[in-house]
Amino acid sequence: MPVRSLLFLSLSLFLVACPTTGDDDDASNDDDAVADPCEGYEAPSEFDDMNDDEKRDYMTCVVVPEMAPRFQEFDADEYANFGCDTCHGDDRVEREHEMPNPDLYRLPLSGFPFSDDPDPEVAVYGDFMETEVSGNMADLLGRSSEFGDPDFFGCYGCHEQP
Ligand code: HEC
Ligand code: HEC
Repeated sequence: MPVRSLLFLSLSLFLVACPTTGDDDDASNDDDAVADPCEGYEAPSEFDDMNDDEKRDYMTCVVVPEMAPRFQEFDADEYANFGCDTCHGDDRVEREHEMPNPDLYRLPLSGFPFSDDPDPEVAVYGDFMETEVSGNMADLLGRSSEFGDPDFFGCYGCHEQP
């Protein structure tokens, strides 16, 4: 797993899983710390070859810790509780985490680049998505962010069209 994941792991799990546990030294790995379900986690295979349980573990131990600090740096208040629901929606269990998520903003095919969108809210998000989210998500999934590549993963991996 990328070194950065390890660095962000404790903090992100702290934010996602146990927001009320005060001022434990959550960056330490000592035995007194609350057991970390992701400690020692190693991805069993490429994402595409994982079964459903393995995908969940990978999301918990790699995707959320990688993505939470990016979203929180973008907007700390809005994404204070960043987690599965942020990408998959609050009906994610019924929808079996299927992506794209129809409840996310519907992204028209004709608007690229969205960082130039006339709506400033869309433009700010477009820039964040282009620089921090799309390519990093492709990397985490072992996919390509090269448009035209058969393994391409991009905006419509998460967003539906209108
Ligand atoms: C940053 C956005 C993001 C977050 C946060 C996230 N996921 Fe995902 N998840 C994805 C994407 C994108 C896919 C689809 C990957 C693909 O195209 O195969 C996915 C796929 C999955 C799948 C496989 C679904 C299928 O159809 O096979 C499961 C299960 C899953 N996620 C569970 C979770 C759980 C549980 C959490 C929270 C611990 C979580 N995800 C957090 C983006 C996210
Ligand atoms: C890994 C999943 C994922 C990918 C890939 C992704 N997005 Fe997003 N996008 C999100 C999430 C999550 C949000 C925030 C949803 C929220 O705040 O409720 C979002 C929000 C947005 C918004 C904000 C819409 C609004 O005004 O509410 C825009 C615009 C957007 N994305 C554009 C893009 C573009 C353009 C790309 C490709 C360059 C892209 N997204 C790729 C997950 C994704």
